[in-house]
Amino acid sequence: MAWTKSPLLLTIARLAAAQVDYSQYVNPFIGSEGPLPGWAYGGGDIFVGGAVPFGVVKLGIDTYEPNLTLATINGGYTPQGYVTGVSMMHESGTGGCPKYGVISQMPLAAVEAPVNILDNATYWQKRVGNDTATVGYFKTDLEDGVKIELAGARHAGIMRYEFPGEEKHVLVDVSHFLPDPSGGFCTQYYLDGSINITDDGKSYTGYGTYAGGFNLGAPYTVYFCGEFETAPDQAQAFRGLNSSRVMNGSTPQPTLGGKSATAAPNGDRVGALFSWTNAGDSAVQSKVGISLISIEKACAFKDSEVPSWEMDDTVTAAVEEWNTDVFSKIRVDTSESANHTNLVLLYSSLYFMHLMPSNRTGENPLWESDEPSWDDFYCIWDTFRNTVSLSHLIQPEAYESQIRALIDIWRHQGYLPDGRSGNDNGLTQGGSNADNVLADAYVKGLRGAINWADGYAAMVKDAEVSTKGSNKEGRGALDDWLAYGYITEASERSISRTVEYALNDFALSQVARGEKPEDVQKYLERSAGWQLLWDHTVPSVNTTPTFTGFLTPKSANGIFNSTDYNPALCGVCSWPSISYEGTPFEYSFVIPHDVQTLIEFMGGSETFESRLDYIFKPNTSQTSLGPNGLGITTLMNIGNEPDFATPYLYNYINKQWKSVNQSRALARQFFKNAPFGVPGNSDSGALNSWLIWQMLGLYPVVTQPTYLISSPWFSDINMTINGNRTLRITAEGLGEDSYFVQSVNINGEQWEKNWLEHADIMVEGGTIEFVLGSEPVGWEKGDVPPSPGHVVLGNATVGR
Ligand SMILES: *[C@@H]1O[C@H](CO)[C@@H](O)[C@H](O)[C@H]1NC(C)=O
Ligand SMILES: *[C@@H]1O[C@H](CO)[C@@H](O)[C@H](O)[C@H]1NC(C)=O
Ligand SMILES: *[C@@H]1O[C@H](CO)[C@@H](O)[C@H](O)[C@H]1NC(C)=O
Ligand SMILES: *[C@@H]1O[C@H](CO)[C@@H](O)[C@H](O)[C@H]1NC(C)=O
Ligand SMILES: *[C@@H]1O[C@H](CO)[C@@H](O)[C@H](O)[C@H]1NC(C)=O
Ligand SMILES: *[C@@H]1O[C@H](CO)[C@@H](O)[C@H](O)[C@H]1NC(C)=O
Ligand SMILES: *[C@@H]1O[C@H](CO)[C@@H](O)[C@H](O)[C@H]1NC(C)=O
Ligand SMILES: *[C@@H]1O[C@H](CO)[C@@H](O)[C@H](O)[C@H]1NC(C)=O
Ligand SMILES: *[C@@H]1O[C@H](CO)[C@@H](O)[C@H](O)[C@H]1NC(C)=O
Ligand SMILES: *[C@@H]1O[C@H](CO)[C@@H](O)[C@H](O)[C@H]1NC(C)=O
Ligand SMILES: *[C@@H]1O[C@H](CO)[C@@H](O)[C@H](O)[C@H]1NC(C)=O
Ligand SMILES: *[C@@H]1O[C@H](CO)[C@@H](O)[C@H](O)[C@H]1NC(C)=O
Repeated sequence: MAWTKSPLLLTIARLAAAQVDYSQYVNPFIGSEGPLPGWAYGGGDIFVGGAVPFGVVKLGIDTYEPNLTLATINGGYTPQGYVTGVSMMHESGTGGCPKYGVISQMPLAAVEAPVNILDNATYWQKRVGNDTATVGYFKTDLEDGVKIELAGARHAGIMRYEFPGEEKHVLVDVSHFLPDPSGGFCTQYYLDGSINITDDGKSYTGYGTYAGGFNLGAPYTVYFCGEFETAPDQAQAFRGLNSSRVMNGSTPQPTLGGKSATAAPNGDRVGALFSWTNAGDSAVQSKVGISLISIEKACAFKDSEVPSWEMDDTVTAAVEEWNTDVFSKIRVDTSESANHTNLVLLYSSLYFMHLMPSNRTGENPLWESDEPSWDDFYCIWDTFRNTVSLSHLIQPEAYESQIRALIDIWRHQGYLPDGRSGNDNGLTQGGSNADNVLADAYVKGLRGAINWADGYAAMVKDAEVSTKGSNKEGRGALDDWLAYGYITEASERSISRTVEYALNDFALSQVARGEKPEDVQKYLERSAGWQLLWDHTVPSVNTTPTFTGFLTPKSANGIFNSTDYNPALCGVCSWPSISYEGTPFEYSFVIPHDVQTLIEFMGGSETFESRLDYIFKPNTSQTSLGPNGLGITTLMNIGNEPDFATPYLYNYINKQWKSVNQSRALARQFFKNAPFGVPGNSDSGALNSWLIWQMLGLYPVVTQPTYLISSPWFSDINMTINGNRTLRITAEGLGEDSYFVQSVNINGEQWEKNWLEHADIMVEGGTIEFVLGSEPVGWEKGDVPPSPGHVVLGNATVGR
């Protein structure tokens, strides 16, 4: 889809508020396509539509793709799928079965047969021309001549439909949700609904209850309150058989009539059809508010957040919020001479990073609390690696609020989530990675209103109370971990979960330093569990040269199973595999807390370096990456989170220039100002934040107060950090081929290490001055980055 500038012109007021309108550099379509032009398949799975930062509402079109091989409708939007509705709630960047796509409207130019409002395939529409999207705003033209425009606010939105003829209808189908086109076991379902129309037909209220989706979530209810600008000539509620009562494959017909419809007692589908037949204005406008609490709140949100019928007012408000609260936190030169592509990459990445999670403060139906409430952590497995560390710097208030909400979930539901959506935890792909998030905040000194005693107790729950094979929350393979110190090959994902549980326990040791010093040693020792899975004799297969020593499946008896073992393979690399979304070869690099031991295990700096070099070479991948393939032939796969930090590991052997070279090459190859502009699912903005760090010239080491130094993409960056401090990053000598670090000054002093600590510059702010050049130089002379989880295990320590 083409990305065109909003026809809605900036007002002077908007410009004055944020100084610069950075929103003009956002391309909301980055990630909307995968490698096959016109298909979302293999792409970012992003949401496209109207939203504010961390908004509850993400208002956009829902589409359906009948090609089950390629259908990927997780964000609702697809480049060419049939439009089935416009709905209020979406995720951005997620895989697995879709979640949300609820509380919808669909403008219809005709409702006569063959249209059956219970069967979206009879009214869905292809689109013509190119869609338009800008921050807060979206527009599309349907094949039947209907034009849809929309704008999103925090818990509400506004839609405008233009119709080609005299007939104008808006269908409200309470039973609408994003299905899993391939009918996966985790497809969502509709359980209950109700709708009431006011006597004048102008407004409607009700609720829908839905369940399922990727996280196999429990039922949640969304209340809605809709209003039309002009009263329709006819407004009729309808009901239809619930789909599980349609046994013979025929599509039932709705029963239309009356001003209200309720699903009970048979779980009927319900909705309403609004029709305008007067030959007047060709447009119908509507505002809708939603709430997880009540109809009254949904109506109040609609009225307060969308006070006017001028759509531009809602767009302007959203743009202002994005500029003030998000984009202006990182300010670079936007003058004529600036590189436009890089501006688009930076501000679009910031945009996608702030679509999730959703701030549901005041909107938690499950328990009463003074703590803030957030949902759509989807998933922390993706965002713990560097997204939260960036939030820490540029969104300290939201980040503190999110951590309080995470702890409150433990307080009231028993476990911190790794994934959570629709008010329910799930799924956990590896470790209990909220532990890492809490530790990352803790070691950097975030305290505020966070109850850290509770935070630590929540982490201890993860570390000590097994969820017995469950993928919902906590650690499903904890029984193995506690008994053997590693995950045995009898458990799913034994390699990747061992790696993740080790970091989780390191995270506990970090927080224990302040909260419970007597626990530090215990969790530090447990964090070395990955060493127990390291078979020092196992060789790589089909590689030149051969590398020796890898994480290797091991039985409960302590016997490595290297029968037919090739560390570069993991089958489908999914839930039942030995490792998840990454091969053991890759996971054998993912030990951020003890890189020192890792280097020793790999045979020292030289072999560590050559093994690192190897995974960046073309045609080294031996496994089919399936839909995530993207034509990547290197073992290194930046599209999957486990490898995020790997390109920066050269800093640990004082070869910083190689980190710069490898990470920059990946960024340039895979991140583009184009619909296929991110390598795979953007994962709630995790891929986007990876790129932002790359552009800043820094990379955070998760659960540690350490930042690795790389090389910035802009010659002058001012960041607002820690609320009101300024971090200025400058780069003298930056050019297209001039990006190797020659020297670094921090706060005016020459810096000899290739890393820095949070306290050095991230608390009070300051300056990092780079001098860059086109030739690599070994500029760093200081200590390599720390390995605070360094543990030497005794001989053959199995079990504890
Ligand atoms: C789905 O799309 C693929 C790729 O274009 C094509 O090979 C396949 O035939 C399509 N399947 C159907 C059922 O249309
Ligand atoms: C639309 O129709 C398709 C095909 O019958 C069906 O699979 C899907 O669940 C329906 N609903 C939506 C919102 O796509
Ligand atoms: C849609 O966008 C494409 C790519 O930018 C462009 O080539 C094409 O002309 C556009 N089509 C229309 C109808 O504007
Ligand atoms: C619909 O209206 C009826 C009658 O006023 C009322 O009992 C019911 O609670 C309303 N339902 C909803 C969902 O507002
Ligand atoms: C199919 O089932 C529906 C609902 O039970 C019923 O109304 C309809 O008559 C049936 N159609 C046929 C062809 O059996
Ligand atoms: C749908 O109808 C079937 C058959 O009558 C019933 O068993 C089921 O409970 C209904 N679903 C809901 C959500 O009420
Ligand atoms: C950064 O801030 C400094 C000091 O206020 C200012 O001189 C410089 O122009 C700013 N640079 C950018 C790109 O905003
Ligand atoms: C902008 O920077 C990119 C690298 O990020 C480069 O490929 C491109 O050529 C630059 N554009 C211009 C106009 O200099
Ligand atoms: C979260 O939402 C609440 C209620 O809308 C609001 O008061 C609060 O400021 C928001 N927090 C952040 C960090 O945006
Ligand atoms: C050892 O690994 C092989 C190959 O993956 C597998 O077939 C076999 O079942 C494993 N042995 C045990 C005891 O799990
Ligand atoms: C930043 O905010 C803090 C807390 O509100 C305040 O004490 C401090 O003076 C401010 N610092 C600057 C540089 O504005
Ligand atoms: C490990 O075992 C070897 C051989 O038994 C022994 O020489 C060595 O001292 C042991 N090392 C440790 C740390 O126990």
